Amino acid sequence: MVTEATDTVAATRSRIQIQGAAKSFSGRTVVDIDDLTLGEYPVEGLIGPNGAGKTTLMRMIMHSTKLDRGTVTLVRPDGDDRGDVVLSELPTYAMAGLGVVKTNQVIMDFEKLTMWDSMLLSVAKPKQELPFKIFAEAPLFAEHEEEMRHYLDFFSLTDPADQAGSAGEKKLLDIVRCLLLKPSFLLLDEPTAGLPDDLTEKVMEAIRLLAASGTSVVVVEHDLNVIWNLSDQVHFMAEGSVILQGTPEEIRRHETVVEKYLGEGHVGG
Ligand SMILES: Nc1ncnc2c1ncn2[C@@H]1O[C@H](COP(=O)(O)OP(=O)(O)OP(=O)(O)O)[C@@H](O)[C@H]1O
Ligand SMILES: [Mg+2]
Repeated sequence: MVTEATDTVAATRSRIQIQGAAKSFSGRTVVDIDDLTLGEYPVEGLIGPNGAGKTTLMRMIMHSTKLDRGTVTLVRPDGDDRGDVVLSELPTYAMAGLGVVKTNQVIMDFEKLTMWDSMLLSVAKPKQELPFKIFAEAPLFAEHEEEMRHYLDFFSLTDPADQAGSAGEKKLLDIVRCLLLKPSFLLLDEPTAGLPDDLTEKVMEAIRLLAASGTSVVVVEHDLNVIWNLSDQVHFMAEGSVILQGTPEEIRRHETVVEKYLGEGHVGG
């Protein structure tokens, strides 16, 4: 039965529950979510027009923006006795330790860091975190060298002794930095924006592999081909709220709603 299969999937993964959560800027509400659970399916898409509140919602989950009200809770998989954690009571820096990790829509460029150092910085323990010390961290490098080389090769990042130059390289490096953290819950904010088709395919492949290994992945993307191809479930956000939820097929059936918010020609994909 479909329901049973869904239950099994849900119980084996980390989920994030958002309850009564709102955020406004200068008196204007940009996110107002009554009750939303993310991560019940391996890969979930979060779509909606510019300004719908997608990035703000992700920042609320990471508690890198303060909630006006409500809670965000990490719900552990069945059989994981570490207990649920109210993320909205914790500082952002605690998230990675809990397995909750996010990429950035706007790439944070670590000026003057090579790709090696940027990757090492992501896996460094707090006491090792000063960039100048990273150069000296041979054991840290040795511990992560194989997986770093794996991802460099996977995404064709050929010159890791150099800085990430193009916007695409920065984007991929940001994704690699997140993958190295072995997240149980990964939020990706427009991971394929600006990437050529071959690298978009690679990012999609990486997401599928990660999800197959048990990570819950939530992808925000304007490229709906990526969303329709990748997602098991889609949440459609508009004006701060989730107004539609369903499989890609179900969402695409709401042609008038999708076209109202995203413009014509988006549904067919
Ligand atoms: N720090 C801020 N200060 C003031 N307004 C903000 C701030 N961050 C976001 N907003 C506003 O909140 C609304 C939602 O923005 P958000 O970035 O969450 O949208 P989005 O769905 O991610 O859009 P896009 O698809 O363009 O990335 C927008 O109107 C935006 O201008
Ligand atoms: Mg955004």
